[in-house]
Amino acid sequence: MKFSIFRYNPERDTKPYMQKYEVDPAPDEPMLLDAILRIRQQDDTLGLRKSCREGVCGSDAMNINGRNGLACITPLDTLSEPVTLRPLPGFPVIRDLIVDMSAFFKQYHSIRPYLVNTEPRPEKERLQSPGDREKLDGLYECILCACCTSQCPSYWWNPDKFVGPAGLLQAYRFLVDSRDRARAERLDDLNDVYRLFRCRTIMNCTEVCPKGLAPSRAIEKIRLMMTGDSI
Ligand code: SF4
Ligand code: SF4
Ligand code: FES
Repeated sequence: MKFSIFRYNPERDTKPYMQKYEVDPAPDEPMLLDAILRIRQQDDTLGLRKSCREGVCGSDAMNINGRNGLACITPLDTLSEPVTLRPLPGFPVIRDLIVDMSAFFKQYHSIRPYLVNTEPRPEKERLQSPGDREKLDGLYECILCACCTSQCPSYWWNPDKFVGPAGLLQAYRFLVDSRDRARAERLDDLNDVYRLFRCRTIMNCTEVCPKGLAPSRAIEKIRLMMTGDSI
């Protein structure tokens, strides 16, 4: 299979370039990450992040033939050639396919991604009804791979001001958690022309999420909560 891969080492290169590779995928190595690891046997200077190989850690997110995804769960037989690999768009490149995630995680931490509850602690744990627990489905599964945020044009222009779809999905996850007591503060913090309202409902985020989540729906529900409409 033929590949064209973005290369850039700021310590060595004056500008980025695309490098061509060719590999024969083994029958028992059906995923894109398998092929990239074979390429690395030819050229160990190629930089990328990866860990779990199971679509769980979120570290091998990249732009695959123009669309963000996880290399480890992308079957090679779904890809047209040359398979073109680039780093996540809109994020600063550290080297080759490795991007700087600092701004992404700064936005994630800004939504206070933890339960806020100052009521006295129960003896064992804070319980939820099955119905309240169900409200977290489709939200807690996010692996913070950044595929959505990196595909969002609103985030490209305002990474320091717009929380972005991944952070907003998590904001909604805590807004609907029956154990949290900071709903009003959380809504107040997001009620801003940039932090939430920079979303233009372009839907790229939901389109590319490798876990099948829908950040755009979560964003819509936060807006409805702000206006007091039912969710
Ligand atoms: S919502 Fe989906 S695409 Fe976005 S960070 Fe979470 S898992 Fe990745
Ligand atoms: S729906 Fe909103 S958050 Fe999602 S890609 Fe579009 S502008 Fe970005
Ligand atoms: S290597 Fe962990 S999600 Fe792909």
